[in-house]
Amino acid sequence: MTAAALSLDVQDGIAIITIDLPNESVNKFSAAVIAEFDAMMTTIEGNSAVKAAVLISGKPDVFIAGADIDAFLEFKSAKDAEAASASGHRMMSRLERSRAPVVAAIHGACLGAGLETALACAYRIASDHPKTVLALPETQLGLIPGAGGTQRLPKVVGLQVALDMILTAKNVRAKKALQCGLVDELVHPSILREVAIRRAKALAAGTLRGHSEKARGVMGTLLEGNPVGRAIVFRQARALTLKKSRGAYPALPAAIDAVQAGYEGTAEQGFATEARLFGEMAATAVSRELIFLFFATTSLKKDTGVGEGSPAPLPVSQIGILGTGFMGAGIAAVAAMQGIPVRFKDMQHEQVGRGLAAVRAVLQERLTKKQITRQQFDDQLSLVSGTIEYTGFGNVPLVIEAVFEDLAVKHQVLAEIERVLPPSAIFASNTSTIPIAQVADGSPRPDRVIGMHFFSPVQKMPLLEVIATRRTAPEVIATTVAFGRKLGKTVIVVNDAPGFYVNRILAPYINEAGRMLDEGVAIEAIDRAMLDFGFPVGPITLLDEVGLDIAGKSGAIMAKAFGNRLQPSASLGQVLASGRLGRKSKKGFYLYDASGKKGGVDESVYSLLPTGRRRTELAKEEIQRRCSLAMVNEAARCLEEHTLRSPRDGDVGAVFGIGFPPFRGGPFRHVDAVGAAEIVRQLAALNAEHHGRFDPCALLVQMAREGQRFYPATGKPV
Ligand code: NAI
Repeated sequence: MTAAALSLDVQDGIAIITIDLPNESVNKFSAAVIAEFDAMMTTIEGNSAVKAAVLISGKPDVFIAGADIDAFLEFKSAKDAEAASASGHRMMSRLERSRAPVVAAIHGACLGAGLETALACAYRIASDHPKTVLALPETQLGLIPGAGGTQRLPKVVGLQVALDMILTAKNVRAKKALQCGLVDELVHPSILREVAIRRAKALAAGTLRGHSEKARGVMGTLLEGNPVGRAIVFRQARALTLKKSRGAYPALPAAIDAVQAGYEGTAEQGFATEARLFGEMAATAVSRELIFLFFATTSLKKDTGVGEGSPAPLPVSQIGILGTGFMGAGIAAVAAMQGIPVRFKDMQHEQVGRGLAAVRAVLQERLTKKQITRQQFDDQLSLVSGTIEYTGFGNVPLVIEAVFEDLAVKHQVLAEIERVLPPSAIFASNTSTIPIAQVADGSPRPDRVIGMHFFSPVQKMPLLEVIATRRTAPEVIATTVAFGRKLGKTVIVVNDAPGFYVNRILAPYINEAGRMLDEGVAIEAIDRAMLDFGFPVGPITLLDEVGLDIAGKSGAIMAKAFGNRLQPSASLGQVLASGRLGRKSKKGFYLYDASGKKGGVDESVYSLLPTGRRRTELAKEEIQRRCSLAMVNEAARCLEEHTLRSPRDGDVGAVFGIGFPPFRGGPFRHVDAVGAAEIVRQLAALNAEHHGRFDPCALLVQMAREGQRFYPATGKPV
């Protein structure tokens, strides 16, 4: 390390330690920063003039964002990671036991090792600012907090809140942090430093008590204060975690073990258990894949979508949306949340009114959950204005169409709006199945036409698939990508082809599940197998959710484009023909009550299937192999055909668009983990039985022959 991350200023008996990593946008911990901290503590302790200290960040909106995740790649073994955790423990312990008590002055992100540092301080004061969030997100990377988080957090906020924070990795905002005792005090950011210095002086003078002392006073009154209550809390946490994760995320039970070791044993036992389990988790394949996803999404944030030397994105300070239906309203709400004015157009006032009400409902949910204030709610809502004409579109730099899924309608609105828009404006289509080149054929400026494929519900789904045609101008791609990111989405850019990428790989997966229904496999057996594989919902449940009509329409388009390989199942066709649409019609493969709540399998649906009642037993592994490999093979084809630009985009698209199991990293990571040769062997065996549906694609065959991988075997994956 060349320049120092920490600087010291002693004023009036108070040491002010400022952390500000040079050449980095955020503060993060590495071995070098820990060594600096150690030296800093020696300096402070050795200076008898120093009575107390304040730790504050020099970055505008970040306290400390956590550990340097790049450094995790250097662990060669569980022992290495355990040693790194132990070194973090020593540093935090020095901070905690310092002769001069330390006040953490927190503004901005205080995450992971950042919060663990704050927890080791004698007093925590935070700014009451929306940017101030505190969390222990380690389990999201398949790890457990390794710098004392599992030990100190329960002592500060109590067992239940601590387990909840660690197991869900959730962000705690400033106000909540005060309520649960995570911080001792909130102040306006402008006076954070000044008040922190005052509190440090009071601590030195003995007129202010540190939080941990206060916490110890109340602990006995809580449920967890007695052994029976504690046992219940731990048992419930384990059961809930197992149910939610289906045992696929070992860091979750490990985090509970670490908390329990410290809560019920000595401090030494607790810290030693945390370090050991941190080490063990760092060496798991699950953690490797989750860290890969972290790197992949981080690298996508820097990707302009058009490569080196790309044109700068145009500013998009307002947008137009055509079609105020389900998707249009979702997109409008997400834009409003980011402070972007939206001009909203449909055919009749009634539809516009419904669209505005839908936007209001999305924002209302955020208000109810206290994610925004009443003022923000009012401000955001006022950004969306509706019309049934094209007034107000004259200066709009980007229009997103979300009208009916019908090429003639799309061409009609395109022709209408062309007369109103400025010449440089971009026309983005949210079509889910129509090739963008066909939409662009209806425009005199096809270079300004692009696809923006959002997923529903727009406000919840993190992915945006941007589709470029051969004619789309690089500036248009760069602008659309930058705008998608402004909406908070993870953006992948794909080339135009039927189904683009996400729906393309979903098709064979859904078809294969349907084929098993054709063969007489039970609905719940298929869904359960794929839940066990790690998908968030089973494929038959997904059909009900998406809508059988939509799945049928999209399936037919894919079959037309790709022939025999992507033929939909007879079961889907027959159930759809009976009039069942899935959840939205409260009739599908599953039962739904009047409120739409899903029940068990609707046994009456079996009479609609080709083989009637269930009579085929298929091993869980066989179901998993067929569904997953159909998807993986198609993903590899997308790369081979250059629909995808990189395996990274394919993995991120599958995980964030479909819910491909994150702990497997994505279809391409899965091939690397299993080995291309083994994947090709399994595909060939399936293909022999299933007539051409599993023909391994040329890319996989070549990789198998040459022993290649999609990602490097060691070092930073992307
Ligand atoms: P929707 O039926 O809820 O909304 C369509 C809206 O477009 C209606 O309000 C309709 O009045 C309006 N519209 C039709 N013709 C119009 C015209 N000439 N001018 C102005 N407005 C017009 O449909 P939804 O689900 O919102 O889908 C819209 C588009 O988004 C479709 O292309 C669909 O394929 C695509 N999409 C849908 C997804 C979904 O999950 N529903 C997911 C991703 C994309």
